[in-house]
Amino acid sequence: MKSALCSRFFILLPWILIVIIMLDVDPRRPAPQLTSRPYFSPHTVGCGGSRIPLRRGSLGRDAAERQKRNESRPPLQAEPRLPTIYAITPTYSRPVQKAELTRLANTFRQVAQLHWILVEDRATRSELVSSFLARAGLPNTHLHVPTPRRYKRPWLPRATEQRNAGLAWLRQRHQHQSAQPGVLFFADDDNTYSLELFQEMRTTRKVSVWPVGLVGGRRYERPLVKNGKVVGWYTGWREDRPFAIDMAGFAVSLQVILSNPKAVFKRRGSQPGMQESDFLKQITTVEELEPKANNCTKVLVWHTRTEKVNLANEPKYHLDTVNIEV
Ligand code: UGA
Ligand code: MN
Repeated sequence: MKSALCSRFFILLPWILIVIIMLDVDPRRPAPQLTSRPYFSPHTVGCGGSRIPLRRGSLGRDAAERQKRNESRPPLQAEPRLPTIYAITPTYSRPVQKAELTRLANTFRQVAQLHWILVEDRATRSELVSSFLARAGLPNTHLHVPTPRRYKRPWLPRATEQRNAGLAWLRQRHQHQSAQPGVLFFADDDNTYSLELFQEMRTTRKVSVWPVGLVGGRRYERPLVKNGKVVGWYTGWREDRPFAIDMAGFAVSLQVILSNPKAVFKRRGSQPGMQESDFLKQITTVEELEPKANNCTKVLVWHTRTEKVNLANEPKYHLDTVNIEV
């Protein structure tokens, strides 16, 4: 009797194993990613187009599978959508432009759920930037607005009109729908951004701040934090600034941008270095700021500036047999 049971068990065992394996294998499931990063988005969208939401994993299907197998894990909820990071980048034509944009795109491509708003300082969209974006593999919006000539002076603030164009696009895009979670960040084309920075800014509730390296004539500037609140600024330049912070040192939630529709960068009365304060004053207070980067003790972004290229030997007229975009 015992041996009969035993032999029946061993005959059935391979079949039981096969059934278990078949239940566990989902032929439609994509191969697992090696790491959660780098993240590559195949979706490129032109000016004003809509973006396909990017998701990782297949939680819904996994939950269904588990239910089928009658497992007793707590029911899974739908994966909360990552807030979209909108990066507004003003950019202008110069010999290093494509190199700067290439570095920036290489960084952005590794950030999930990022929408790049590239605003050219030009009367029309350039061929160089258009074809660059078409191959960049990033959800993007390509805008343009020229800086009036009277404002093109070295002592005047830069990129005012371009950042405002980006803000206007964001507000228009979200005017009819209740705001999706989102975070806005002003990403100049020449700075250097760590990937950790995007993880930090993604949790911005209203306005978040962090240190910026290589700025203001010092190794870094940073908000001073006490008991989780910003109480002052470590800076060596114009300490009287209400928000002594570079453009690369803060992020704003989409909700705050939408509920302050008049907050823009102003030309009138604005001086270089004061644009950040003039803008932030319209939407927040120092007490309200959310310190990131371990209470503002880590530098995750650097205000790098690319050296002016030496074109002393560039011929006056085109001499090469081919025309190469640089
Ligand atoms: C500093 C700040 O980091 C900038 O955010 C601020 O706009 C600038 O000062 C200012 O004075 O207004 P800085 O490195 O001196 O930055 O400025 P740039 O990097 O030369 O320009 C900032 C952004 O504006 C860049 O993305 C650049 O491509 C763009 N830009 C600059 C234009 O679109 N048009 C221009 O004529 C010049
Ligand atoms: Mn710069």
